[in-house]
Amino acid sequence: MQGHEKRDSGDLLCAFVYDLESLKEHASNVTHALPDYCQMYYAMKANSEEPILNTIHPYVTGFETASIGEIRKARAVSDDVPIIFGGPGKTDEELREAVLLHVERIHVESLHELRRLMLIAEKLETEITILLRVNISMENDVPEATLQMGGRPTQFGMEEGDLEAAAYILESSRFLRMAGFHLHTVSNQMEAEQHLSLIGRYIDKVEAWMPMYKLDRLILNAGGGIGVNYADLEQQFDWQRFTNGLHQLGQSNQLISSGKLKLNFECGRYLAAFCGTYVTEVIDVKRNHGKTYAIVRGGTQHFRLPVSWKHNHPFEIVERDEWDYSFHRPTAVDAPVTIVGQLCTPKDVFADNIPLSRIRSGDLIMFVLAGAYGWAISHHDFLSHPHPKMVYI
Ligand SMILES: Cc1ncc(COP(=O)(O)O)c(C=O)c1O
Repeated sequence: MQGHEKRDSGDLLCAFVYDLESLKEHASNVTHALPDYCQMYYAMKANSEEPILNTIHPYVTGFETASIGEIRKARAVSDDVPIIFGGPGKTDEELREAVLLHVERIHVESLHELRRLMLIAEKLETEITILLRVNISMENDVPEATLQMGGRPTQFGMEEGDLEAAAYILESSRFLRMAGFHLHTVSNQMEAEQHLSLIGRYIDKVEAWMPMYKLDRLILNAGGGIGVNYADLEQQFDWQRFTNGLHQLGQSNQLISSGKLKLNFECGRYLAAFCGTYVTEVIDVKRNHGKTYAIVRGGTQHFRLPVSWKHNHPFEIVERDEWDYSFHRPTAVDAPVTIVGQLCTPKDVFADNIPLSRIRSGDLIMFVLAGAYGWAISHHDFLSHPHPKMVYI
């Protein structure tokens, strides 16, 4: 055999690279554009790596968490950062520890959870502030978005029909303080105007529920769900237009202008997506049954987002002229190429049939918009390949 291996596979490049400066700037721009009646929490499920949390922390009101593990991570960042705790199926142990770790609010997802929390609050003799998460009725009129969490059957929140029973339970509780409602209905919303009108409908709903709970002021948590356009990088959610609309709403809506309604957001994707890139090296380029494949180091066990959302993930190629072997360099020219990882499943695909002018073994592929729901949602140890490096700039 001619030539020799100069590198073993452990030397191949595979990393998540996070630009913390750009994250800082983005988080600052996003939150500073909001009117005073709005507060932004960071939904840390999108990416709960410590440097990301530390970077975002100064710009947001607090962290939105969905497990006791996330609460502990948030507390590790700061003893006093406000933490709100949501998510279906909270256990008694999680609820108890959340209270002991001084979460600011708990978003209650069902009547059973409400009753259990009431008992826990009594045992701990601690006042707990709650929002009720409601899966609202929307007469089949949920805005177009990639995922719908409400307005149709899902495991999230309680139905509007449960609200009277919830009010009855709360009347008998000395320790639960009802502060408002949580309505997270869509994910990956791309249209600013649609989102504004959704929030307008949320406000109508919660206003109608106030007398049932004898509330004279309330918090409306409108969830996260602001989208990121993975298909056209230039056409992102129009945050300026959205926040202009929120400013106008603040003036025109009586509840808001009188200081009786605070609007919370808990965004994950829109805050964290832009700062991250998954960079990986092309190991091989080959043809198989008429289709061209580029096989990269790593795979969707590191970066599951494209599989999860069934999209072609946007990427750039960084050409590298260095070639260590004396033999032929696998190359595809002017061909549609499918970018795959190292897993033994045909589902390990990042992007399918993308026309490329050239890709070679040894080049790098940079998957952009990888800061949210990348590493965080992936099944890291499937096939026991090495983990990527985590690089924070
Ligand atoms: C209750 C809740 N809040 C916030 C988020 C964050 O959503 P996004 O990352 O789309 O902003 C999610 C995501 O699933 C969620 O379920």
